[in-house]
Amino acid sequence: MTSPVLSSLPQSSPCALELHDVTRVHGKDARRVTALSHANLTLRPGEFVAIMGPSGSGKSTLLNLAGGLDVPTQGHVLVEGRDLATLSVAERAAIRRKSIGYVFQDFNLLPSLSAAENVSFPLELDGWNPRKAREAAMQSLNEVGGSRYG
Ligand SMILES: Nc1ncnc2c1ncn2[C@@H]1O[C@H](COP(=O)(O)OP(=O)(O)OP(=O)(O)O)[C@@H](O)[C@H]1O
Ligand SMILES: [Mg+2]
Repeated sequence: MTSPVLSSLPQSSPCALELHDVTRVHGKDARRVTALSHANLTLRPGEFVAIMGPSGSGKSTLLNLAGGLDVPTQGHVLVEGRDLATLSVAERAAIRRKSIGYVFQDFNLLPSLSAAENVSFPLELDGWNPRKAREAAMQSLNEVGGSRYG
């Protein structure tokens, strides 16, 4: 069944995320591990999915590839219609900052920065005025509760 959100989107809008025949192999020879094999996935804007599977089935591998943190051994990953393999390192970093939200299991925050600074820092990397970036960070943090983020 198509959700109301999806059916209201123009048909021409690009998929948010596409995995086409994506395989990721780690290691060589006797240490070779196929972490993900010929995976296909298409997500449209507004779609909500959960990736489920037993430990070692390749969930983190898939998310790392979808987030542009890793590159496939074979196949293609497209974010908003752009094949990550065709982008420069700087362009992939820009897509990670602007188009992909990723909560790591171990958070990966910068420990020397406050919570608000961790949120505003990526905006500043995109050229935002530091004061405006801090205001936007505080607004976002307030939306998820609490009021003391330093
Ligand atoms: N960097 C790596 N080098 C070698 N093998 C790896 C590497 N990363 C993952 N693997 C292997 O690939 C397979 C898939 O691992 P992955 O971490 O994606 O699974 P997972 O579904 O996220 O597991 P979990 O539920 O335990 O987090 C496992 O066999 C794992 O040992
Ligand atoms: Mg995992």
